[in-house]
Amino acid sequence: MDKVIVNDVGPRDGLQNDPTETTPEQRVDLINLLVDAGVRSIEAASFVSPKAVPKMAQADKVFSLLDQSRCEFSALVPNMKGYELAKSAGARSIGVVLSATDTMNRKNINMSLDQATGVCIDVIKAASIDHVTPRAYIAVAVECPYEGSVDADDIHALTTRMFDAGAAEVIIADTIGAANPLQVKSLFTRLVSAFGARALSAHFHDTRAMALANAWQAMECGIRKLDASIGGLGGCPFAPGASGNLATEDLVLMLNQAGFDTGIDIVKLMQAVKFAEKIVHHPVGGKVRPYLEKNLA
Ligand code: COA
Ligand code: ZN
Repeated sequence: MDKVIVNDVGPRDGLQNDPTETTPEQRVDLINLLVDAGVRSIEAASFVSPKAVPKMAQADKVFSLLDQSRCEFSALVPNMKGYELAKSAGARSIGVVLSATDTMNRKNINMSLDQATGVCIDVIKAASIDHVTPRAYIAVAVECPYEGSVDADDIHALTTRMFDAGAAEVIIADTIGAANPLQVKSLFTRLVSAFGARALSAHFHDTRAMALANAWQAMECGIRKLDASIGGLGGCPFAPGASGNLATEDLVLMLNQAGFDTGIDIVKLMQAVKFAEKIVHHPVGGKVRPYLEKNLA
């Protein structure tokens, strides 16, 4: 069976933007339920300024409570300080964030595109030396909420910079969920032919209900690692219009039903959806939740 890695970003991309504050212990309980369901790759936290993103405070506590033998956990880091904090907390994999446009970098991390590119390269190089797996997000890869459509040439060039610096993986992110499947086909066909599919992954938001179609399209281009967020939690506080991520349960049901090996038990995954709902105090869940609750759980 063809393997697909589902990377759950709910504990980071999901909870960073939720109106409800969660404790590090609650975030770890959610992560452990995901691991129990078979998820083997999780973005557990971000080492960012607590003033910029208060919901991600105490990322070090999160890492201190994780059993890293069970799963590949990564941490998002916006700068060298974040990297150093993540390394000290024991993170073995990190993700830098490079937005494709100047304005988005300024809004998100208070750096120009050039500065952000330089910082990402420095962090990737430092992580490589420390044997911490360096990953790089290319955010707003199709459309930016401030600058509009993004040219595929720019994505190609930034992806090249990240791989040249030593990134083990580049995650192409449709941060505001504006992409349609034809755009995904065109962008991923180009990137896969330039860099190969193995080190690329895809991150979609479901703002316009096209995330699942986009994920399938990326798979058609050869991608076998996809981000998703439990319960469809998510959004970026600095990208207006970014609503929830592709829900992990929607993606996993599609992949399992289509015969791919995700290693994830959909019934157990629903325990994580229910727990996410309990800690954020509002309804969550992908489109498949009613079906799953009626037929499987
Ligand atoms: N983690 C924790 N604190 C950090 C930090 C990090 N990675 N980087 C900087 N800081 C602290 C500094 O020590 C300083 O603290 P002080 O006010 O107590 O002295 C303060 O934050 C400001 O530092 P500065 O370097 O001037 O940062 P800034 O104000 O220009 O903000 C970022 C830049 C990157 C720290 C901030 O914009 C950020 O954390 N962005 C994250 C955005 C995000 O998570 N987006 C969603 C995911 S893509
Ligand atoms: Zn996202």
